This record gives sequence, structure tokens and C-alpha cells, in this order.
Amino acid sequence: MNDTTTRLRASDLEDSGDVGCNPTENLTMGEVIATRFNRRDLLRGALAVAAISATVGNRALAANEQPAKKGLAPSFDFKEIEAGVDHTHHVAEGYDAQVLLRWGDPIFPDAPEFDPASQSADKQRRQFGYNSDFVGYVPIDGSSDHGLLVVNHEYTNEELMFPGVGVQDIKDVNFSGMTRELVDIEIAAHGGAVVEIQRRNGRWEVVKNSKYNRRITADTPMDITGPAAGHDRMKTVADPAGRKVLGMINNCAGGVTPWGTWLSCEENFNGYFQGKLADNHAEARNYKRYGLGSPAYAWGKFHDRFDLAKEPNEPNRFGWVVEIDPFDPTFVPRKRTALGRTKHEGAAGITNQDGRYVIYLGDDERFDYVYKFVTAGKVDPANRAANLGLLDEGTLYVAKYDADGKGTWLPLVHGQGPLTEANGFRSQADVLIETRRAADLLGATKMDRPEDIEANPATNRVYVMLTNNTRRKDEQVDPANPRANNAFGHIVEMMPEGGDHTATAFTWEVLVKCGDPSVASVGATFSSETTKNGWFGMPDNCAVDSQGRLWISTDGNSAKATGRADGLWALETEGEMRGTSRHFFRVPIGAEMCGPFFTPNDESLFLAVQHPGEADEGSPASFDNPITRWPDFKDGMPPRPSVLVVTKNGGGKIA
Ligand code: FEO
Ligand code: CA
Ligand code: CA
Repeated sequence: MNDTTTRLRASDLEDSGDVGCNPTENLTMGEVIATRFNRRDLLRGALAVAAISATVGNRALAANEQPAKKGLAPSFDFKEIEAGVDHTHHVAEGYDAQVLLRWGDPIFPDAPEFDPASQSADKQRRQFGYNSDFVGYVPIDGSSDHGLLVVNHEYTNEELMFPGVGVQDIKDVNFSGMTRELVDIEIAAHGGAVVEIQRRNGRWEVVKNSKYNRRITADTPMDITGPAAGHDRMKTVADPAGRKVLGMINNCAGGVTPWGTWLSCEENFNGYFQGKLADNHAEARNYKRYGLGSPAYAWGKFHDRFDLAKEPNEPNRFGWVVEIDPFDPTFVPRKRTALGRTKHEGAAGITNQDGRYVIYLGDDERFDYVYKFVTAGKVDPANRAANLGLLDEGTLYVAKYDADGKGTWLPLVHGQGPLTEANGFRSQADVLIETRRAADLLGATKMDRPEDIEANPATNRVYVMLTNNTRRKDEQVDPANPRANNAFGHIVEMMPEGGDHTATAFTWEVLVKCGDPSVASVGATFSSETTKNGWFGMPDNCAVDSQGRLWISTDGNSAKATGRADGLWALETEGEMRGTSRHFFRVPIGAEMCGPFFTPNDESLFLAVQHPGEADEGSPASFDNPITRWPDFKDGMPPRPSVLVVTKNGGGKIA
């Protein structure tokens, strides 16, 4: 998972700057600053951070001068756990973490029990998938004890899933161990799941005979909707109309809409395609910008559509936000092209004061951008069917963070500014298919890998997780990305003008720079109340609970990187405690923390433990020789990615 890794597996794709690099020469914020200050005064390193911070508003200082506003989130009061790494998970004292759904668990009455020694694609299609990332809870009749869990299965680890297979890559073994059967199991283990769950006598259980339960895979038929549907660049041999596609891939984070649908986001889709296009091919520039050409999976060996030479348009049909109605098991998932094509992290939204729905979107790549989508129509609480059309019409914007703590949302609209035929954009479909290149031309701010973004309905502030970017150089440092060689990431807080999420103006500041605050050269800015267990690196997913409190899960901590496993931390955002972080949960060795998602009453918290037992800092790990057998700890059973639900012993809110 570090920069010296040579394999291009899916987890490495998340961390790979070799692909999809932003080639533009948009001014970095450091250059913007340099135009305001004499170049000689633009200090480097930690001193630069102090100098640059002084140029933007600092709400933390302001908050110290006045009492905390009434009605804002109360402070956390759980007793934090000790940071560290071992074979299992840990949760704060007084809480219970129940393993609810493991990879391979049957989710239908007739589904076969999991047997890793005799897995098949048919079995896998009836069982819970691999590497859960986003977990959403959609209440049934408003209940916090009965609802539908919607879960993304982001990617697969062949070396941990299959006996005797080991790591399969293109560089060292040319996928030689991958058979068609294994590839088809992988395809069936991708996608997502809808699972009805119910809480009885305090324990959550899966309702196996539910009419709602469903597996979605990387070959489930889906519709393509919105402005790019039917465009020539979306057409393939199998789909001459350009409106139907098989499957969704590498679905990372997502969102749940107020009308009860699940938004599932395709992230590192590039790693699934093999073959090369000629440099003068019409799609060559497009595919370079998204990092195609370095396959992490062998799928193209057995399925022509994953081979660029045979089906050059297929990659244009991935990289979208997919909307799924979990209450209708026959619903054909819809790829909503109006929301743009990027390596989408998440799609959490908020209903604006005027009723329009606003979705915040991160494009997880070094030096890529923060986006938002504003629907043209308004959410109608009385008309669910009408809301199902909302995401096909609206405006996509990309963020530009100015040096003075202000910022602008720039619209990606065909015909406006540089988004014209002269630059290769003949229609809005072109703008959306090449969202990144359109944003390049608009001059968006290059960020340190934007992951989850969540709005806090209590304050209208928006939190942007920027997980890390070790390739940012001193001269590329800017106020919104204030550290060179940013190994530990940071969080930016945005305030839409007038609390209006549709506004094109906003203000912003850095909420916290992550990493060990006791090491001066790291430049972390957690509050002094944060303990040695309380700080974290690499923020990835996040949730705002119903009381407006921010919870953050991480990806990339390890014994070597930070002396701690990934996990969940609670971060104070208000008053004098602002910037204080506390450790609530940690994952077993090799895993990253995904989720988190709360029930409406904050009494249950869903978490996903992704890729437990994956090689940690280069040490070997395989099905036959795992570094943990979490969560079953049985001989012959590999580690199993799982969804957990955390509750308070004796009941009550998680806080
Ligand atoms: Fe799949 Fe950006 O994490
Ligand atoms: Ca993520
Ligand atoms: Ca991740």
C-alpha cells in the first residue's frame, strides 16, 4: 500500500499515483499564494504552513473567543481505546461489536453455506460479497430496529480468497494463476448487497427469507441514464444503443437519499481493463486521464468487454454513480451520468433549504477534485416515484479554493467557458464522459485525494476528507492542501454562502491536519486535548450522527505508518474542544475501516472491516498463510471481510 509497491492490485490502485495523474498546469494554491506574497516570503515546510494558515480565516481561534453556540453537537463521552495493531478488532468499553455479515454468508434461504475450499460463482451470487466498503441503513417504516442494509462490495483479494493462488498481477505472474472460474467468482463477489435486518432483544439478525434481499454483481444488467445515455461513446457491440451495461465495479463509498435509494459509487474502474489503444485513438486522451492501461484484474483474459482492443468504449460505461431502489428487488440499477464520470468515492447529500438535493462528490486520485451536483428539481416528500427521476437533471460543479479562505463552484456545463467543441466537447455527454478534463480546463483546485464528503445538517458545514498525497511537492503546497509530502491527510471544512448548498460561493478552512501531533515535523493540528491514542492519519470515510457529531474512519494506518491499525475516531468540531479526536474502534491487522453509518436514533452504528489480513507493509499474506483468521479464527478459514454493528451495552445512543 506504500509508494514503493510494484503490484497494481485494487488496494494499491487506491493509493496509486502512477495512473490517472492530473497533467494540467492549473495553478496550485502555492502559486496563487506566491502571486499575493513576494516569492521570497513563501516559506517552505512547517513554517510555510503557519504563514499560509494566517492568510485564511481560523474559526477555531474565533470559537475560543466566544462561548460555543447553543444547539450545536454535544461532546463525545465514550472512553477511548488504546491505539495499536493485533489480530482482532477492539471497541470502546461499554459497547458491543457484533459481526453481522461476513463474506460468503448466505443471504437467501436456499443459498449454500460458505466453504472456501469449494467456492463457485453460482454460490457466490447467493452469498454476501467481498470487501464491503459503504454500508447504508434504510429504515423500514422509519424504524431504527428494522431496515435494509445496503452494502458495496468494492473489490477482491485473490490471494486471500482462493487456496494456492497467491498474488496475481500483470507484472510478475501475468495473471497466470487466474482461471475463468476464479475470475467469475471475483465478478460475483463484486457489486453490492441489499439485506433486510432486524433487531430483537437487543441483537441484530439477518432476515434470510426477506423479499428485499438481493445481490448485485459486476454483471448485473443496469441502465445508463442522464445526458450521456445513448451517446456514441457509450455504445458497444453488446449494447448498440449505449443505454445498457452489465454490472458495476469497484464500488467504494456512497450515500442514502431522503427518498430511500442507495447511491453506489464506482471508483477505480480503470484497473479492470486490459489491452492498449493506439496513441491516436479517439479515446486515448480520455483513458490516459483515468489511468487505464495497468490492469489489476485478469477479467479481460476471459471477457472481451474488459479488453480495450476488443471493446474500446466499455470503460466509458464505468466511473459513474449508480442509484438503486432497495425496496424493489427487480429494480434495474441506474448509472446516473449527470453526476459525472470520475473515480467516485462517495455521494452523500443534503436537502437544501429550497428543496433541491445537493450531493457532494470526491474524486479519489492525487491532485484531483471536489465536486457537487445540484438537482434541477426539488425533493417531493409525498412523491417517491418523482424523486427517482431527480438525479438525471441538474448541474455538476467543481470546487476552486482561493487563497483568501473563499471559494467558487465552477459549473461543468457544455458551451460555457472552455467546455466547447474547440476543446473536444461537442455536447454535455462529452463533458460528463470526460469530467476530469473538463474540470482541468475550468481551473479547479488540485486536492490531496478527496474521499468522503459529508454535510452537517445542524450547521450546514461540509467536511471533506483528504486522505493523503505524498507526491505534493513544496512548491505545490497551498492553503487547502497545506503540506508537502502529505502522508497523513487532512480535513477541509466548507461553509456554503448563506447556508445555501446551491450557492456558487463558499468559505473554507482546514479543520485538522492529521498525523502524530507530538512529532513537530509532521505538522499535525489536533487540539492539545487529543491523547496519544486519539490522533489518526489518512481520513477516508465519515459520518455525521443525528446530533451533528463527526466520526471518521481511516485507510492506511499500520504498525509501520502510524503505530496503529485503521479504525474509527470521533472528532469534535465545535467550541473549545474543536480539533479534539478520540479513538472508538480499531480493525484487525491488514484491514481498513469502512462504513460508518448510524441508524436514525444513533443507537446502532454499522462498520465494515475491509481486507482483513491483507499484507501489511509488504509482509506476505495468503489464503494458506494468513496473518489473521479474523473473525472466525478457525483452521482452514481465511480472514473474511465483514460488516459489524456496534451498540451500547444496555441500550442508548452511541456517543
Ligand atoms: Fe475506495 Fe477512495 O477509497
Ligand atoms: Ca474510501
Ligand atoms: Ca479505502
